[in-house]
Amino acid sequence: MEKKRVKSIVGKYMFPTEGTSYMGGLENRPVIAKSEGRTVWDTDGKAYLDFQSGQMGAALGHQHPRMVKRITATMESLLHSSNTMLNVPRLRLHEKLGKILPRPLEKSVFLVSGSDSIEASIDLARKATGGLDIIGLHAGLHGSTSYVTRSVSFNWDRRKHAAVAPHTGSVLTPYCYRCPLGLKFPKCEIQCLTASLELADANFTAQPAGFISESVLSAGGIIVPPEGYFNRVKAECDKRGMELIMDEAQTGLGKTGKLFGFQHEPGLKPGIIAISKHFGGGLPISAVCTTADVAKRAVGRGYFATRSHATDPLLCAAGEESLDIVVEEDMPGKAAQIERWIKSAFRKMAKEFEWIGDIRGRGVLLGIELVADRQTKAPANAETQKIYDYALDKGLIFQIRGVRELKNVIRLVPPMTSTRAEVDQAMSILYDAFSGLKKKGSKRKATAGKKR
Ligand SMILES: Cc1ncc(COP(=O)(O)O)c(C=O)c1O
Repeated sequence: MEKKRVKSIVGKYMFPTEGTSYMGGLENRPVIAKSEGRTVWDTDGKAYLDFQSGQMGAALGHQHPRMVKRITATMESLLHSSNTMLNVPRLRLHEKLGKILPRPLEKSVFLVSGSDSIEASIDLARKATGGLDIIGLHAGLHGSTSYVTRSVSFNWDRRKHAAVAPHTGSVLTPYCYRCPLGLKFPKCEIQCLTASLELADANFTAQPAGFISESVLSAGGIIVPPEGYFNRVKAECDKRGMELIMDEAQTGLGKTGKLFGFQHEPGLKPGIIAISKHFGGGLPISAVCTTADVAKRAVGRGYFATRSHATDPLLCAAGEESLDIVVEEDMPGKAAQIERWIKSAFRKMAKEFEWIGDIRGRGVLLGIELVADRQTKAPANAETQKIYDYALDKGLIFQIRGVRELKNVIRLVPPMTSTRAEVDQAMSILYDAFSGLKKKGSKRKATAGKKR
């Protein structure tokens, strides 16, 4: 499709998007016409390595051959079905998921989008505990439905909404690279949590119901809470009769190098987890998973969650196939290998390029934080944008992320099926991008944002 026609359709028919938002100005970016494996092609036939895995729905690679085969077969036999009757793919998916969930998690409810699963998780925590207040990390993101999930997506500007949901509030993110309290782990003894909960207790207006978090805060700039953090959170939840909800949209099903991201915290047993993104191997299906005990308490107070398409055989069959692929093709192992390749490449680059302030993340969910000065940690927002522009021009796609006004983290989310050659190609493009910054001597004149 010609660029002129793209602009004309966007200008005339597409609902406008604020230019500064991450989905603003789409008409100036490549228009995707085709995808396969780790590559997407634009309308000019230019190929790009997709190191954002689509919108994270292609973490198995685009059009994984097993997904295509299963989806095609199901479409021809049983596409849609009522949720007032059971269907075979749905039953098989409950069983398959139930068998791989770490105990005591066992039961599942299917929905369509990630936001759906978070709304349903919050409702589940409320019904199970009889409480109302929900707290989440201030750099977290949990969805885009206009009321509940955006209200707990503190990394998006809550001021953009006409109204936020009552009984929602944020607590400090344990962002150790930029500790909000200026302390150092482990000497800090996780004071950010202690102080946050003291404040939260003072703010609760009802019995608190839940604490929601990603195990790696993705949109917030790939922030990995320190070891022991979530077990402390769980203990504090238990004291208050709250449920711990782990949002595994981005961290679930292999991407962090384990089946679920929360399993990196030894012994952690959340009462509720939500999965989505590549759960459908490219199709939209999500799930809320919980224990028999939480489910029983919630149903006793009238809990129920569904959508017209939530238990479609097509989506459930896709879910079952993606779980089989994750387990049988050892996606967690592949993700862990990719993490080693990428981190090692960036550790080498960090010796040469002072811009690289921090290298972090797990599996295929990785972040490189760029700073103008390693001492002051002044964020290098403009330089991060230059790296992005260069990489896009050379055929590598990723996203820029960070906490609120920080836009200085290169977020790399390659599909778990990425090969060594593809990773090397991406690293070589990024090396050249950093070399370009250096040559222009832009280090000294870095147009950095304010120090935090
Ligand atoms: C951690 C997390 N939770 C929930 C969501 C919402 O998922 P969806 O866009 O499918 O509604 C997102 C979306 O990016 C996410 O990153």
